[in-house]
This record gives sequence, C-alpha cells and structure tokens, in this order.
Amino acid sequence: MGHNAGQAQTYWWQQGVIYQIYPRSFKDSNGDGIGDLPGIIAKLDYLTWLGVDAIWLSPIYPSPMVDFGYDVSNFTDIDPVFGDLAAFDTLVAQAHQHDLKVIMDYVPNHTSDRHPWFIASRSARHNPKRDWYIWADPRPDGSPPNNWLASWGGSAWEWDAATQQYYLHSYHKAMPDLNWRNQDVKEAMFDVVRFWLDRGVDGLRIDSAQHIMKDPQLRDNPPNPNPNVTAHKPLGDYDSQLHLYDKGHPDIHAVYREFRQLLDIYSTSSPRVALGEMHIYDWPLWARYYGAQLDELHMPLNFGLVSVPWNAGAVRHLVDSVEAALPPGAWPNYVLGNHDEPRVATRIGQQQARVGMMLLLTLRGTPTLYYGDEIGMHNVDIPPLSIQDPSEKNLPGIGPGRDPERTPMQWDDSPHAGFCSSAVEPWLPIAPDYTQVNVAAQHADRHSMLSLAHALLQMRRATPALAVGSYTPIDGAPADCFVYVRRFENQRRLIALNLSGDEQQLQLPTMGSGRILISTHLDREGPVDLASLHLRSDEGCIIEVEDTL
Ligand code: GLC
Ligand code: CA
Repeated sequence: MGHNAGQAQTYWWQQGVIYQIYPRSFKDSNGDGIGDLPGIIAKLDYLTWLGVDAIWLSPIYPSPMVDFGYDVSNFTDIDPVFGDLAAFDTLVAQAHQHDLKVIMDYVPNHTSDRHPWFIASRSARHNPKRDWYIWADPRPDGSPPNNWLASWGGSAWEWDAATQQYYLHSYHKAMPDLNWRNQDVKEAMFDVVRFWLDRGVDGLRIDSAQHIMKDPQLRDNPPNPNPNVTAHKPLGDYDSQLHLYDKGHPDIHAVYREFRQLLDIYSTSSPRVALGEMHIYDWPLWARYYGAQLDELHMPLNFGLVSVPWNAGAVRHLVDSVEAALPPGAWPNYVLGNHDEPRVATRIGQQQARVGMMLLLTLRGTPTLYYGDEIGMHNVDIPPLSIQDPSEKNLPGIGPGRDPERTPMQWDDSPHAGFCSSAVEPWLPIAPDYTQVNVAAQHADRHSMLSLAHALLQMRRATPALAVGSYTPIDGAPADCFVYVRRFENQRRLIALNLSGDEQQLQLPTMGSGRILISTHLDREGPVDLASLHLRSDEGCIIEVEDTL
C-alpha cells in the first residue's frame, strides 16, 4: 500500500464531496409536481451550507421518460419538464458562484427509441444511420441472434418486423444500444461531451460505463455456475448468465483513453472529471478502468459499500481490497446510496446510517452522498398504482424497483414537505413521516442526522488528514468495530466505528491518549485514554491522536 500516502497536490474531485441530485425529486418550482432546474437553483444555498463541493445531476435531457431521463432523445438540450438551456446556464453560473462544481450524467450506451438517430436507423437497412445501433439477423429458426438478456427481463434483442432484423437493448426495449464500434457514433458522442464541457460543466458521470463495448462476434454468454450469488442486487434471469460478452469487451479501454484525452484538453482551463458507473466487484478488474497509466477514467465508481454485508469485518475487508487493487496514484471513491439502490437508512437502519455517514465521510477517497441521506430518508412504500419505475414494471416482485429511494426531498413540514405546492400531487408519494424527518426540523435539532452530516462535512473540509490523508486499518479492535487512522503530515485522526447495537470496549494502548472531536451521537467531546475506549451501541467517533512517529 505504498501509494496510499497522504497526497498534498489534489484536485477538487479528490478533496471534494459529490452530492447526487435526482432532479425530478429535489424541488419543484412551477407547480407540476416534478422537480426542476429552478428548484435546484433555489436550493444552492442549502448545499453550500451543508458543505458539499459538487452536484451530480441525474439526466435532464429531453426524454420520453420511459426510464425517467436515462432514455435520451436529444443529448444537447434540456427536457422542458426541467427547464431549458438558459436555465441550465444559470444553474452552472450560480453553482460556480457558490463554489459548487456541476457534474452531468452522460448516457453513452443507449438512446431512447424516439431519438432521431434511432428513428433513422430503424427506417431502412440501407439508411446511413443503420450501423449506429446494433442490428443482427435472426438465427435460422427466427429466434434472437444470441442468448443475451436485458437487465430488466427477457431477451436483450427486439424484433423489428419492418426491416426483419433484431436490435440490441441492454435495458428496456425503448432504449436501443448505440454501436460504439462505428466511428461516426463515437465522434457524435464525443461532440456531446464537448457541447457540455463548453457550457462549463466540470465533469461527467458515465452511465452504464461498462456496457459500451460488446463482443463483436456476439457470442453467447456462458451460464453462471452460481446464479444465487450476486455481488450486486438480484436481477432474476439476468443472473443466470456470466456477462462475459455483452459488456466490458477489452476494446473499451481504448475508447476511455480517447475520452480521457478529450477531457484533458479541457482540463487545462479547469480540471474536469470522468466518473464511470461500474458494477464490478472484482476489484482488480474494476481498477483497470483507471487505465494502466491512469489515462482512462479518473474514477470508476465504487459500489462496494452498497452491497457489502453490514459488519465490521466485511466492511474493512472491502476497504482494504479496494485500497490494495488501486494502481499507484489512483484515487479511491465510495458510494453509499444512489437512485438505483435501497436507501441506506432502510438497508442498515437509522442508527447505523449515522455510522455509515461517518464512514463515508472519513474514508480515503471521494464520497458520493445521495440527496436525502443527510436527513436519513428511508425507502417509501409505493402503492401498486403509483409505481413508476420501468424495472419494477418489467420484473414485478423481484425487488429491483427503484421508486422507494426516489421520493421527493423533505424540506419542511408544510404540505408535500415543501417539495411542491399543495395544489398538485408530487410525481411519487412523500414519506409519511415527513413532518418529523425534514431539513427544517433537523436543522433546528443539534442532535439530528442533518447536524451530524453537516458537522462531518465541515470537519472533513477543515482537516487534511480526513480529506487527503493516508489510510491505515488498525488491528486488535473488537470484531464489531472498524478502526482506522487517517494521517496527513503530522496530523492524525483515529476513526472508531461500532457497527453493532452492542456496547464495545476498545484497547488501543499504543495509541496513547487522544481527544474525541465528534461522536455520531453528537453528545460528547474531549480527552480520552485510548487504552480503554468505550463505544456505545451504534456509535462512531473521530479522535484526534498525537503523532507518535
Ligand atoms: C444506470 C442508471 C440507471 C438506469 C440504467 C439505464 O444503471 O444508474 O438508473 O436505469 O443505467 O440507463
Ligand atoms: Ca416542476
């Protein structure tokens, strides 16, 4: 772990904390029950107060909204439900005035079937855009070209009767996959990158980043010998195969090298970042997306904390494995929640969610904080008639439905939680407990989750050891505790986390004495003898320790 030294020279995307906004659900400004860009602008003061450094917006492009914006019908405009390009420019300008960077979601793997490119492509076999998507002949018996499956159920191939071929869709049939082996597609999609970077965007989060290169021979995926062991969430039949050929073809690395060169050109004016959505849990394989010379993605997103069993041993093992897999100089990152995963407060409980927040904000690497997690929002039960998510509609009951973690942000105790006017129904139901769980109430409560998140964010910002320091796990703690040291120059912070509901007694005599700076319970500070450190149930502490070296 020689490369895990504290780093003095860092970019904003290394020191900073990224806050993910699901725009439909953040703040509605015009009374249609759907969040929008002016709504986000209205909340920039909140975000700077909270103490994050960048906002990542899930897609806001024109879209038929089959997958709520991940089905893009125009990559260089804004959907009217969210605003327009002028509103977007205002958002970028005002965010920058607030010292907040702006990261756009970039969706290279597929378009909407309403995108003009696909409309042209499917219109005739000889259309110049035919090859912009992945078309193939049926097998002799008329069945799909191979056994590839869509993540949301059924074959990944859809028959087009008019032109007598199948097209590929890794997700929904209304989201056909682009053919990145076609140079014109690559150029057109690189132009999209230029379009947004020219508008002042500071980075891109690349959707389904691993999917853009498939096996050119379209070989069948082999069966999965362990279909019940998923590193991520269960996806039904999709888990019956090893996804060897339908994504992650080695040619993908050359594409990301070119992509990076494009970003690097723009980075001479101000550093831009590329984050890739990467559901890979084999860390050496995952780490390849940094590039052998750190010349691909700045950070493949790390979803390890989302699916790890919530116990100290497993969490430490995850962190140590990620650290060990990083190529020299590569910067780690951690995601604890997002728009595709159950809320962390639901997964691990409200009390452990506070420990999770301390973990996220004290690990080495860039944290991504999902909107609402700072107030402990939990999954909301969605009545069957209110279900919106296409993955839930396609695979009812399997559990991938993502509406529960996408419900409107709870701002205050007014009707509809201050998300939208009382005259309109929000696009998804609001959590029933919003009168207690909301920003205004927690702002006024100095022991709240929001107060904890705020304090941790301030501390991280003010403490180089936490923001950019090295990471060293500490042995000899009780089995339910994860203990590590972050260090920068002669500044050291000991983080002691109790991942259980039982009290714990830690003996760390070699650490000497220290000073508790913050507890997840927000009720104690001051000197402590580390030969005998008591942690209450669900408690984590950040402790200032003397530099003994
Ligand atoms: C990614 C997104 C998810 C979306 C899918 C298809 O996994 O995070 O929300 O549905 O890609 O674009
Ligand atoms: Ca609106």
